[in-house]
Amino acid sequence: MHRTHTCGELRISHTGQQVTLSGWVQRSRDKGSMLWIDLRDRYGITQLFFAESDTHPQLMELARSAGREYVLKATGQVIERVSKNPQIPTGDIEIKVEKLEVLNASQTPPFTIEDQSDGGDDLRMQWRYLDLRRNPLRNNLMLRHRIGIETRKYLDSLGFLEVETPYLIKSTPEGARDFVVPSRMNPGQFYALPQSPQTFKQILMVAGYDRYYQIVRCFRDEDLRADRQPEFTQIDCEMAFVEQEDILNTFEGMVRHLFKTVKGIELDTVPRMTYDEAMRRFGCDKPDLRFGMEFQDLTAAMQGKGFGVFDQAQVVLGIVVPGCAGYTRKQLDELTEWVKRPQIGAKGLVYALCQPDGSFKSSVDKFYSPDQWKAIAGQATAAPGDLMLILSGDDLSTRRQLSELRLLMGSRLGLRAPENFKPLWVVDFPLVEWNEEAQRWFAMHHPFTAPKPEHFSYLGTDPGLARANAYDFVLNGVEIGGGSIRIHDRTIQSQMFALLGFTPEEAKKQFGFLLNAFEYGAPPHGGIAFGFDRLCALFGGQESIRDFIAFPKNNSGRDMMIDAPSTLDQHQLTELNIALTNPS
Ligand code: AMO
Repeated sequence: MHRTHTCGELRISHTGQQVTLSGWVQRSRDKGSMLWIDLRDRYGITQLFFAESDTHPQLMELARSAGREYVLKATGQVIERVSKNPQIPTGDIEIKVEKLEVLNASQTPPFTIEDQSDGGDDLRMQWRYLDLRRNPLRNNLMLRHRIGIETRKYLDSLGFLEVETPYLIKSTPEGARDFVVPSRMNPGQFYALPQSPQTFKQILMVAGYDRYYQIVRCFRDEDLRADRQPEFTQIDCEMAFVEQEDILNTFEGMVRHLFKTVKGIELDTVPRMTYDEAMRRFGCDKPDLRFGMEFQDLTAAMQGKGFGVFDQAQVVLGIVVPGCAGYTRKQLDELTEWVKRPQIGAKGLVYALCQPDGSFKSSVDKFYSPDQWKAIAGQATAAPGDLMLILSGDDLSTRRQLSELRLLMGSRLGLRAPENFKPLWVVDFPLVEWNEEAQRWFAMHHPFTAPKPEHFSYLGTDPGLARANAYDFVLNGVEIGGGSIRIHDRTIQSQMFALLGFTPEEAKKQFGFLLNAFEYGAPPHGGIAFGFDRLCALFGGQESIRDFIAFPKNNSGRDMMIDAPSTLDQHQLTELNIALTNPS
């Protein structure tokens, strides 16, 4: 028998029992006549104790030889510790070892297997099995498991059916690039890995399955960020015979259930905000509501006073940063440099320090009199002691830039605590957006999203004005879910494809199966998909999803452990009918 208990199980009540434990050496302390080894497994750490006075010299020797990450099996008696460790649940006891077996030796690991590791990201991913031994990673995976179980429980209780959809499919246009897989049996033809099961779940609604869900892997060949992986997991859902309100309520219920069962938090009713309002007040479609600093439109107040940059701008927008009037010139210069970085792209930053005595000091003092500043500050509701940060330019870019600056200031002021959860539904998204480069309309969500019935006429006249029954679930500034009511009428779907620049032939070639399905009694339907990895990361209080995925990819999309992607040998390429123009 390899173990009678786990390394997280023994308590003072076990004192006197003979036990066997197996696990990995976390660390050992050798005081000459006495030796302690911390033995770790998935469940915890238990201290092993060896005293020279009553331990066989050979056993003592063996214990001394066991380095970090050796796998040991130890048998002995549970005894009360002399100096207890209140930090760990097994801290009252230790095992006085009588028998020890080295089940396997280990090389010295390339980084420390502690809560705070000294390993860099790539190193940790290369030796992921060692990284996964660390508590934070183990806790993350346990959290992920729990959220998955509770999701299934909730959806099952409402009659949702989990149905698997294929991974080898034809490309679905969700905006990103597809990963493709060559077909050996169909030379020159390729499958695409699904960016989401979107069309399949709609087909399931046509098939009458009514309430579908799937915790499903999705694949998108897009630039990676902290909250993006090339393969990620969605809680993908679809319902028939529903309106937007039904979906919002059902999935608000799901999030509430998860918060309650996993985090012990009773969530208030989730507020709703239209896309237009979110853009106006926060400059982005996924506002972080943990703090204020809402946008102040200063266009009218600040134009026409001789400051050319503002006069020529489409908008002049500001935020009021509370209590930061003491910012030094150096700090303000540094903020200016920050907004001018290419990632943000602002041309400059105007600031005004609202001095405690009621006066103002700004970077554009010569254009604005003290009285004018007083009026501007009044409009922006800036109080003495506050700092006003102002950007100008075209509407969309300025909002995006100021939104980034707002998040930065929120972080600096410590207003974005991870355990403070502020969810939000953003609703009424535009149906389409104009792409200047491609000179055509693109679906803002995806081409299957229905325009609001009352906006249908805009499709022929001014598509940019059309709003959709499309919604995002936002948590602490992160988009964790998105969905819409779908088109279920073949004519409207064809019209939508035409608006998006598909010829009827292209639409038929790519989506003929869906258009055909719509000829056979498609019910009204809609759905949503949550980013499962993002949800887990947020529940775990982190922004990066990487450590909530057992085997993630690095920023270049590489799996550092198995070293993928990799080249294929010529034999495989020939079999797949692939000729490389630039073989490496
Ligand atoms: P959408 O494209 O908005 O919608 O995706 C749904 C959710 O998936 C998460 N997500 C990601 N998570 C990690 N890495 C990525 N690369 C990544 N991309 C997206 C986000 C997002 O909110 N078929 C539609 C859903 C529907 O209409 O029902 C869809 O996929 O949290």
